[in-house]
Amino acid sequence: MGLQRLFPTLVYRGRLKQTGRQAFNNRLLHECRQLRLDDAGGRRWSAKNYPGGYTSYNSVNRMHQVSPTFAELERRLRRHVRSFAAALQFDLTQRELTMTDCWVNIMPRQVVHGLHLHPLSTLSGTYYVKTPRGSPGLKFEDPRLDRFMAAPPRIATSRTDNRPWVIVPAQEGALVLFESWLRHEVPPNPVAAERISISFNYSWF
Ligand code: NI
Repeated sequence: MGLQRLFPTLVYRGRLKQTGRQAFNNRLLHECRQLRLDDAGGRRWSAKNYPGGYTSYNSVNRMHQVSPTFAELERRLRRHVRSFAAALQFDLTQRELTMTDCWVNIMPRQVVHGLHLHPLSTLSGTYYVKTPRGSPGLKFEDPRLDRFMAAPPRIATSRTDNRPWVIVPAQEGALVLFESWLRHEVPPNPVAAERISISFNYSWF
C-alpha cells in the first residue's frame, strides 16, 4: 500500500576520473577552438542554424574517430555509460552501446540552443569543457508535458522530480547522460565568455 513511483526519467551526472583530468581538459579545449578555425563548413552551417555560436554537429560529427584526444574522451566516458545503462537495467546481452556521434558546441554570450531531442539514438550526453561562472546549465522538460491537460501547477517548494522543468548545472570536467528521447535545451548564455561543451550519441548494435 502507499505510493509507488512508476516510469522514472533518469539523468546521470558524473565527473571524469581525476587522474590527468586538468591536462586532458586543456587538450580538449584547445582542439575545440582549433576545430572552429578549421571547419569553414561548420561555421557556415552554424551561422544559419546556431546564430552567434559554433557547432560541428552538421560537419565534423564523429570527432571520436578523427582525433586521438576525443577518442580518449570516448574511453573515459565508457564507465559512466556502463553505469547509466545498468541503472536503466538495459538488457544488452550480445549487444553494445557504441558512440555514434560526437561534436563540439561553442556558445558565446546570448547564444541559445532551443528545445530538441536526439532522434535515432539511444543515449545522449554532454561533457563540459569550459563553463564560465554564470553560464547556463542543461534544462530538461518533463516528457509527459503534452498530457498535463488539467494539471495544477506545482507548489514553489515541490521536489525536483515533480517539476515540469529541471536545470542541471553545467560544470567543467563533469558530464550528463540521458535517454535520447528526453527533450532539453540550453537557455541563452548571459555571460560575456564562451561556454564550450562536447555532445555525443550512443546506439545499441
Ligand atoms: Ni542536445
